[in-house]
Amino acid sequence: AESVHARLRAECPVHHDKQFGRYFLTNGKDIEAVLRNRALLLDPDRANQGTIAKLQTQREGFIKSMLFLDDPDHHRLRSLVAQAFSQRSINDISLHIAQVANELLDALEGRDRFDAIAAYASPLPIIIIAEILGVDPADRADFIAWSRTSDNAFNPMLTAEQQEAMLRSQNELFDYFERQIAERRLSPRDDLISAMIAAADGDHRLSDQEIKVTCNLLLVAGNITTTDLIGNAIRLLIDHPDQRQLLHERPDLAANMVEEVLRFDPPVTASSRIAPEDMTVGATLIPKGEVMFTALQSVGRDPELNPDAQRFDITRDKPVHHAFGGGVHFCLGAQLARMEARIAIPLLFERFPNLSLAAEPVRKIAPGFNGYGELLVNVG
Ligand code: HEM
Repeated sequence: AESVHARLRAECPVHHDKQFGRYFLTNGKDIEAVLRNRALLLDPDRANQGTIAKLQTQREGFIKSMLFLDDPDHHRLRSLVAQAFSQRSINDISLHIAQVANELLDALEGRDRFDAIAAYASPLPIIIIAEILGVDPADRADFIAWSRTSDNAFNPMLTAEQQEAMLRSQNELFDYFERQIAERRLSPRDDLISAMIAAADGDHRLSDQEIKVTCNLLLVAGNITTTDLIGNAIRLLIDHPDQRQLLHERPDLAANMVEEVLRFDPPVTASSRIAPEDMTVGATLIPKGEVMFTALQSVGRDPELNPDAQRFDITRDKPVHHAFGGGVHFCLGAQLARMEARIAIPLLFERFPNLSLAAEPVRKIAPGFNGYGELLVNVG
């Protein structure tokens, strides 16, 4: 992607992509300004043309989550989730993240090689969010299976078979959440679902349907992305033994390493905004209702924002990126994702210091996401 982005940044930073009916932005400063502009819209129904999100949200039975809503609905949903999320302090779970990571690593002891995605990067965030939501450990295996098929949730180009499997899995997950919500209405527990119900029944009402869709969003938005972040970091550190050695010598660099991975190889490729009226970006007029597609991967590689941008350097002073979007839709799970990655990545390399690639890593095909489907590593 970077070679295309670099050319666009230099030659056409606001590119009118007529095929998809959108303006494709690659200049880092333009993207920052667009993401931070709170007047811009996101609800695909307000866009003039068929955006990818529109194809998805117009499927029958699709209920929009906060990610596809504007105020006042966006604020109503987001503030309640934010409130419920913050009640369970993220710091409280850091020890727990390490414990889950170590259990996954224990299970790999004695193996010569393993797939770092399937064995580590994928289950870790799913288990953590399952526990935050309050999923019974007995339901974990189902939950992991449902979460995996959500990889396809943003993919408008599925075969009929894949589409059916995805919808079936999503319906099972929705039914599951419905049962969980009903149970907690009768007897609340100390978990996120109960906290959302409590918040929903307070001043700003939230329907059970909306709670369900929000639970699903936390899975779709949170798991694939965190898996990709951890997977991308593993690959980068294997490819850069000097950086890996540095991390070993200076564990205090872990948080900065995560920011550098988010800059260099971010999990989400783009975020969209819709012009509420005619506006300009750079020198280009964006007519009312047109979609701006911000290439999040391009922000971190823009030399105007990050000197020597093509170099992966975990000691970089304040890597600039927009991997978590920005403005009113700024990722609600950013702190959780950062913490999971900061803990999980060093633990993996401490346990298996000689990790190397066992095969060429396989990039997954999931529009909107940037990560590996398979990352086979040798232990010895
Ligand atoms: C929104 C990225 C992890 C929950 C977003 C957006 C991006 C993003 C780009 C859209 C922001 C925008 O349009 O401005 C990521 C990345 C992650 C990650 C790269 C991991 C490395 C998580 C986690 C959770 C989460 C762990 C929750 C458990 C959400 C929610 C939204 C969101 C609820 C919608 C916010 C809104 O519309 O107001 N994320 N995310 N994300 N993310 Fe994340």
